[in-house]
Amino acid sequence: MQGLTEVLFRHCYERCFPHVIDLAVSPFLSLTHGNLTEARDKVDDVLPENNVGSIPVVPQILGREPDLFVQLAHRLAELGYREVNWNIGCPMRRIAGKRRGSGILPYPDLVREVLDQVVPQLNGMTLSVKMRLGYHDPDDIFKLIPILNDYPLASVTIHPRTGRQQYGGQCDLERFGQAAAQLRHPVIYNGDIRTAADYEQILRRFPSVSDVMIGRGVLYDPLLPLRIKGASGEPEQAVLFLRALVDDILATLPTEQAKIRKIKEYWCLMWRITGISETASRTVLHTTTLAETLAAIEQILVSLQVIRD
Ligand SMILES: Cc1cc2nc3c(=O)[nH]c(=O)nc-3n(C[C@H](O)[C@H](O)[C@H](O)COP(=O)(O)O)c2cc1C
Repeated sequence: MQGLTEVLFRHCYERCFPHVIDLAVSPFLSLTHGNLTEARDKVDDVLPENNVGSIPVVPQILGREPDLFVQLAHRLAELGYREVNWNIGCPMRRIAGKRRGSGILPYPDLVREVLDQVVPQLNGMTLSVKMRLGYHDPDDIFKLIPILNDYPLASVTIHPRTGRQQYGGQCDLERFGQAAAQLRHPVIYNGDIRTAADYEQILRRFPSVSDVMIGRGVLYDPLLPLRIKGASGEPEQAVLFLRALVDDILATLPTEQAKIRKIKEYWCLMWRITGISETASRTVLHTTTLAETLAAIEQILVSLQVIRD
């Protein structure tokens, strides 16, 4: 997830909860950055030396220019990666409007053109796909499946919403099931898994699903992957993780403004772990200096500690 599940987060998570998350997909590398000397921060995210001791990662590419795709994939292969993930699910309008991300889903010929040119040139690397049901039309996927089935994909991850839906409305489990049954590749489910019960429900309903990808659920509740794997997960562990993440942000980001912005980005999702109300959590967002931001978080965490004691 852009700006969230980057290497700083993945490192911190692995340090706090070793070997709990099996695999992460990197925030997307956009093909406008086909030349890896550009956009250093994005590429730095998947440099092996920066990922030592972190959650194993599959780099993700966003775009539809076959030449740039192959160029970037080859560079990733040189870095040691054996799989690359193609993002055809991103719902952001500025991206989808250019037939990138989920914006390519209504154009099966375009999808075939990219796969036709990219797959034979991957030199032994495998390709996996992350997608939605469609852009406007949730039935786009059914025109794409015969195409996807023509290529040797490592897996297909489906977030069962359209791009236009962004994150609103319910996941369309009915269509997910139909699509999963028609795909010959391992299918990974993604969407709205917030509890271990949600996870179990998906696996019960779709026994052929090979894996589950969780996005926001891990930020709402960092202990969710532990619970899915059968550990109880004490609330204090989530608070410790939040503190560790803030410490890593303070130690890593260069400027006071960058630190404040990043802490607030995580806080927007992670305040839930404290169990306070959304209104109370906003005090952190209203701060302007780093000292104020840290003090506001600390005040909340300490008051919780007092209540628990
Ligand atoms: C802020 C944000 C950034 C995201 N960035 C990416 C991304 O770079 N690549 C990707 O495949 N999905 C990205 N996603 C989508 C998530 O991977 C996931 O498909 C979506 O959040 C639904 O799953 P969830 O309900 O488990 O969060 C992003 C989502 C959010 C909210």
